[in-house]
Amino acid sequence: MKLFTGLQPSGALHIGNYIGALKPAVEMCKEHEGMLMVADYHALTTLREPAELRANIINATRDYLAAGIDPDKTVVFKQSDVPEHTELAWIFQCLVTVPFLELSHAYKDKVGKGLEANAGLFAYPMLMAADILLYNTDIVPVGADQRQHVEYAREAAAKFNKAFGDTFKEPKERILDAIAIVPGTDGKKMSKSYGNTIPLFGTKDEIAKAVMSIVTDSNAESPTNVYAIHALFRDGDYLGELYKTNKGKYKVLKEALIEDIEAVVAPMRERRDVITDEEVKQILTHGAERARARASAKMADVRQKIGVAL
Ligand code: ADP
Ligand code: TRP
Repeated sequence: MKLFTGLQPSGALHIGNYIGALKPAVEMCKEHEGMLMVADYHALTTLREPAELRANIINATRDYLAAGIDPDKTVVFKQSDVPEHTELAWIFQCLVTVPFLELSHAYKDKVGKGLEANAGLFAYPMLMAADILLYNTDIVPVGADQRQHVEYAREAAAKFNKAFGDTFKEPKERILDAIAIVPGTDGKKMSKSYGNTIPLFGTKDEIAKAVMSIVTDSNAESPTNVYAIHALFRDGDYLGELYKTNKGKYKVLKEALIEDIEAVVAPMRERRDVITDEEVKQILTHGAERARARASAKMADVRQKIGVAL
């Protein structure tokens, strides 16, 4: 089974990203033949700062390597290094209609807020379809917010196959965050847009500060918000005992949570600290060579089928 996933290089990760996306993606890549792509051209639909984009690409790759992606097994590369992605996206754009793309949630949200969407954002689902379909992908592990994009990829495959003959496999999504929605320090879904995050690769002090700020219900003897996050790191029996013997002792329970997060994060942080920019660049270059070999073979077939190869 072939697995393909992508991530937008969009800044520092939090514990929610780790539990909901990073950890399950790393586990799936251990089990299956996988490709992991840094979607830098997708990021260009919103970013205008070259230095920031460059740093985000390096850091996002480093985060995934630190979390356990093995670059010898999984092909790790960035989108812009494989021009076949944008090439195939163009071909798909010529097959779909404007009203079809107008149904995209990401596009509708932007327009709904009264903002002007660029044409790149409008065509975003066709670039993502190209990412996925170029590699005969079976499974696409993604967050629930990306479900529609995988549907678009299936539709693009079907439209192409109907017009030019059987070429692309229709992929299936595997929704990752159905496993757990991690609550933030205020009890709402942890999200960088709500400012309620516990940083994944922060220092121990930064993690401690965030945990200490978790809002607790002073009427309850067991702090629900602390417990909900703790349950992602320890089993129920252990926690039942811990929370029973420390009834009402919120500080003790928060300190225990800090240690339990630290036990998971510290080894990753240590790995992350020793991965140099140079190593990341080498891994991406090597990944791009492997990805490109596959993508160019697929595109040779596509060019033949649509009639541009003479
Ligand atoms: P944010 O909400 O902080 O902007 P993103 O939308 O960038 O996070 O999410 C990146 C990935 O992390 C997605 O796959 C998403 O499903 C997952 N994710 C984000 N927040 C959480 C959370 N609180 N619980 C579980 N998964 C999450
Ligand atoms: N759009 C995805 C996101 O914002 C990132 C992405 C780009 C992706 N191409 C992909 C995910 C292909 C899975 C497969 O999270």
